[in-house]
Formats: sequence, structure tokens, C-alpha cells
Amino acid sequence: MAPPRRRTAAEFQGNGGLMPPSVQVFASPCGSGGGGAVTTNGSDKSLRGKKPRGDTSVHSATKDTGRRRPAGRMPLWLVGIFVSLAFNVAALPLLLQQYIVNQPHHHHHGVISPDQQQHACAPQPGTSGATARAPSTGKPAVTSDSVINLDHGDPTMFEAFWRETGDAAELVIPGWQTMSYFSDISNVCWFMEPLFDQQVRRLHRTVGNAAVDGYHVLVGTGSTQLFMAALYALSPADADQPMSVVSTAPYYSSYPAVTDFLRSSLFRWAGDANSFVGDAYIELVCSPNNPGGAIRDAVLSSGAGKAVHDLAYYWPQYTPITRRADHDIMLFTVSKSTGHAGTRIGWALVKDREVARRMTKFVELNTIGVSKDSQLRAAKVLRAVSDGYAAAAGGATRHRLFDFGRRKMVERWRMLRQAAAASGIFSLPEETSGRCNFANETAANNPAFAWLRCDREDVEDCAGFLRGHKILTRSGNQFGADPRYVRVSMLDRDDAYDIFISRLASLK
Ligand SMILES: Cc1ncc(COP(=O)(O)O)c(C=O)c1O
Repeated sequence: MAPPRRRTAAEFQGNGGLMPPSVQVFASPCGSGGGGAVTTNGSDKSLRGKKPRGDTSVHSATKDTGRRRPAGRMPLWLVGIFVSLAFNVAALPLLLQQYIVNQPHHHHHGVISPDQQQHACAPQPGTSGATARAPSTGKPAVTSDSVINLDHGDPTMFEAFWRETGDAAELVIPGWQTMSYFSDISNVCWFMEPLFDQQVRRLHRTVGNAAVDGYHVLVGTGSTQLFMAALYALSPADADQPMSVVSTAPYYSSYPAVTDFLRSSLFRWAGDANSFVGDAYIELVCSPNNPGGAIRDAVLSSGAGKAVHDLAYYWPQYTPITRRADHDIMLFTVSKSTGHAGTRIGWALVKDREVARRMTKFVELNTIGVSKDSQLRAAKVLRAVSDGYAAAAGGATRHRLFDFGRRKMVERWRMLRQAAAASGIFSLPEETSGRCNFANETAANNPAFAWLRCDREDVEDCAGFLRGHKILTRSGNQFGADPRYVRVSMLDRDDAYDIFISRLASLK
């Protein structure tokens, strides 16, 4: 692990440095030259240095240089002072805005809202105006004739919940924090923030969906990185053959893609678990399944076989929590639990210390750890979720993510079933239900994706058919299944979902 090379003072300050002096003088407070406007003081100083002592008259200036200046022309040093003054006055509004933006008492905990950023930051060289000023918002807004993209499971449905939570999930990170590579060198996962570990364990205890006592928590850049880490950790380095990686079809389309991406000699994709023959394998068990939403168990069992349980959707908004899962390796992610896919944080619960150590090694060699800023944000978000269900939290201020998520999903599945019935050419999996230990009631399974079948005889490619009607979905053949099926994300924003529903209902 090699720390980045330090930049020399010359690189920062010299003419061949990162920023030419002229840019430094005029940089806005939001630009990469941070505080650049203040450097006008530097020009002040140099001008002051040249100012003749004790006498500001034209005469003494000319006396110093010994040259004559035509009457009525200003001396150079005076021009300098005027120019400097003009710069300082011009920079004042910018400095003032910077002051306002940086002062915690002017806004919730000093967090800059997109609006404030828009006003405070002038476009920087190399950026493209309005879109470069505010944080991105994901897919663009839709209108009734837009293409509706429900191909990816982008969980923007949850934005509406987090908009209502005030400062519960807001975070300020001072410039000096989270700078070290290391977080807790006494932990197997030495780059994991203790706060994140703590909030992961707390949330699982609150929901009761997975055992945490006796488990190592590992953090990854999304659970996708931990999935790769698990393949690495479970594949012996000295085997004659690559380890076979299997999953029951229809399986999550990323499993084959990620497994074979780098053509590793340690492991390779071997398809549907149900048709696998052999002893050594890694079985990926996704439960509730993506796609389809079914609750699944491993289908293979052998002494040399290993299972990785991807429990990304084992949360109360999607499915009843019927038992506390206690598998050897369990993967989770904030992408699906809270909707924070952009934070890119996932975690693994791992029983065996050696497996945990090898998974950690993978992340170390892959990305030298995981963004601490993201970990802290994820910890804050998970904490806000648990707080919503804490006995001490009270009344109207209580924000309960799983209640929101379940209400939304129940409503969306009701709308989808109605639209499919109105259309008459689609079918959906049967609704199932179970006793949810978390909600303490019977609850339906409301999968994050609809596994939709086009029943029309003349339609063999359902994704192509829907694309013709400006609805983008993922074809069944990417999940090892029939292309008459498509996977449809149920987690988009209301406006896109509503347009999808009315379009679907009108298809005959
Ligand atoms: C089953 C499953 N596992 C993992 C992931 C990826 O999660 P992350 O965003 O944490 O990489 C997804 C995302 O769609 C998923 O559906």
C-alpha cells in the first residue's frame, strides 16, 4: 500500500504548478483554488512594499526614480493601490458568500443546500454551467411522453422519505477528518469506521433479520465489491480448476457478468445451480430473489461447496421478516435497505475469521479500503432508521423508513396488478405472505422488481415489445430465463412509476 506522493511546495506555488497565479488571484471561493480571492492580499503586500515611505506625493516618487513624469499622470504605485482596492472591493461579495456558506449557524449544521451552492458558486473553468453547480439528482425528470427507464433498480422512490427527515441524516465532515487510510487497526476489517460497524449491528438487532453476535462485519464499496471479495476468499489459490460459481435461475444478472469480467483463473461462472454437477462450487443464494422476489434457500449441499447469501432485499418493506438469518456469509447494502445507492456502501456479516480476513485482503488490494466519508454517511443514515423505531423516540418527529417503504410497495403492487389485469396481456407472480416478526403482523411479499411475463402469442421478446412503447426493462435472457419475461424496477420515483402504470394498462 503506497501512500500518494506528496506534492512539493513548488508544485503548488510555482508557475508550473497546479494553478497559474493569475487564476489564483481571481478564483471564486467555491473553486478548486479554495480561498483564491484572498490571495489578492498578496498583491497588496507587494504594492505596499514599493510605496515610498513618508511621502505620497507625485514629487517624491519622481525624485526616487530620478525620471520626470508628465504633469497630471498618476504614479505607478498609486495605480497599484487603486487596482488592489478595486480587486478587494470586487472580491468582497464573494468572500461574504463564502462566509455565509461556511458558517454553521446560517444553515442546519453547515450543510450547503443545492440552492445555496447554486448561488454561491460561479461556474468553474471546464464545467458546464447550471448542471455543474448542484449535486446530481440521478435520472432526469419525466413527462407523459418520456421514455421510462425501469431497467436498473435505482431506488429513487426513497428520496421522498429522506426529504422529510430534516437533519436526522445530515452530516458535516470537517476538512481535517477522515484523512487517514486506517480506521481501526485492531479490527480484521481495519478500514471500517467503528461507527458504521456499530450502526449495522444495531439495525440488524432492531429489525431481527440477521444474526450479528459472533459475526465479523466487513464494509465494501457496495455489496458488489463484497460479492467479488467473497468469490476471492472462497476460491482456493492452488486448485487445478477454477471454482464453479452457480445460482438458481432466474438469477441476478450481475452474478455471471461480475464473475467472468476479469476472466479469473480462481473462479468462473457455471450457470444454473439446479443443473450443476460436481462437489466444489460457490452457490449464490439471493433471497428475496432478484428477479422474482421469491424466498430462496441453497439448492446444493456438499462438504466442498460454499454458499454466499445475498440478502440485499431481506428488509421489511419488501418481505415479511420470518426468521433471523444466520448463514456463513451474508451480504447487505444501503442501496436497497435505505435507498442510498449513490453512497456505494455495502456490508458483509461473516462467521469465519479467516474468510473475513481474505475478503478484507481483496478490498485492500482492490481499493485500499472503502471511503470513510461514505461509511460515516451510511452510519448516520442507518442510525436515523434505527432511531425511528427506538422506544425512546417520540410522536410526530418519528420517521419510520420501513413503514414508508411498505406503504409504497403495497400501493405500487396493487397498481401494477390492476394495470396487468386491465391490459390482459401480462401475468405476474402470485402474491405470497407470511408472519412478519418485525411488524408483528401478517405481511405480503412486495418485491423490489416485478417479474413480468408477456402472454401475447406473437411477442417472444417482451423487453423489445415494451421498448417499442417507451418502457425500458431488462430481458429475461439476462437472468438465465425466457425472454418472454422482463424485470421491471418497482423503486423509481412516483412520476415515472405512474406513467409506466398507465402505459402498461393501455397495451393490448
Ligand atoms: C441482489 C443484489 N445484490 C447486490 C446488488 C448491488 O448492490 P450495491 O449497490 O450495494 O453494489 C443489487 C443491486 O441491484 C442486487 O439486486
